[in-house]
Amino acid sequence: MTELNAIVESARAAFGQAATPADLENAKAQFLGKTGRITELMKGMAALSVVDKKSRGAAINLAKQAIEAALTERRTALAQAELDQQLKAEALDVTLTGRKRGMGSLHPVSLSMERIEQIFGSMGFDVADGPEIENDWYNFGALNFPEDHPARAMHDTFYVEGGNLLRTHTSPMQNRYAVQHVKKHKAEMSTGAVMPEIRVIAPGRTYRVDSDATHSPMFHQVEGLWIGQNVSFKDLKVVFTDFCHTFFETKELELRFRPSYFPFTEPSAEIDIQFQSGPLAGRWLEVAGSGQVHPRVVENFGLDPEQYIGFAFGMGADRLTMLRYGVNDLRLFFDGDVRFLSQFQ
Ligand code: DAH
Repeated sequence: MTELNAIVESARAAFGQAATPADLENAKAQFLGKTGRITELMKGMAALSVVDKKSRGAAINLAKQAIEAALTERRTALAQAELDQQLKAEALDVTLTGRKRGMGSLHPVSLSMERIEQIFGSMGFDVADGPEIENDWYNFGALNFPEDHPARAMHDTFYVEGGNLLRTHTSPMQNRYAVQHVKKHKAEMSTGAVMPEIRVIAPGRTYRVDSDATHSPMFHQVEGLWIGQNVSFKDLKVVFTDFCHTFFETKELELRFRPSYFPFTEPSAEIDIQFQSGPLAGRWLEVAGSGQVHPRVVENFGLDPEQYIGFAFGMGADRLTMLRYGVNDLRLFFDGDVRFLSQFQ
């Protein structure tokens, strides 16, 4: 039956050419479908005699079985090829080294802040936190800045809606903290008891319209306030000297209190330090403003300045960090460059 053999061969060829299962189903239809070649041959048998039908039918059936076998074989092959392809695409190289998630670390300024809090904490100072969006009263008024005083202009303030501003220093925390403290002890004080001393530091972000290698529009300060009945400039010197020795891990360091002016202290002093050794040796470096808290500021705390006295200071935390680690450009702290930051782990 060469005709049937030819059909089987052409089915095999067509199936072989089918590259996808869909192609294969199309090819199958050409032979086994309703109008396929085998089906047509079956229909053509109607006119044959019974004997011829029998032999012709058996031959067509054989051809049909051969085609079905070829179809099954090709289906299996295509499915296998598809699976191979998929496995290849999803292959894992288990010999590759793992990808580790990078470990972050604390920012050098955060490390300094932690250190400062810990040192002052050990000297009995509370740590207070307050708003970065302030109003004129806390940032200036309560601190004895007169209206229209040039000191306000010196602060290059960022103003925000509603007459509020971004605090230009951490000093507003003096009044915020002291007023709460006084409130807390009001009852005992009204019976004549002496107020427990105010001893607090307030670290945080501060803002000024300023930007160069040593100034950033956002920077960090730590405010300090100690108020009691007998707290003097001598105490400020002792506390701040102790702090510097601990913070910089050296006693080979001198402090100088240089007369200055702030509306909220009288007298006022700029605190400079000088290392006796190391790369910064021999230079006076300014690290803080300080002074005896002005009587009007004490009054604004709700206290009698005749009875309560003390000192305050405000230090630049970024500057202290630069000095401690020998960083010479403030902007490095705020660039977020991992190569720089990862050196402080
Ligand atoms: N607030 C001042 C500033 O940012 C620094 C300062 C000076 C704070 C004297 C004080 C102080 O508490 O007593 O320039």
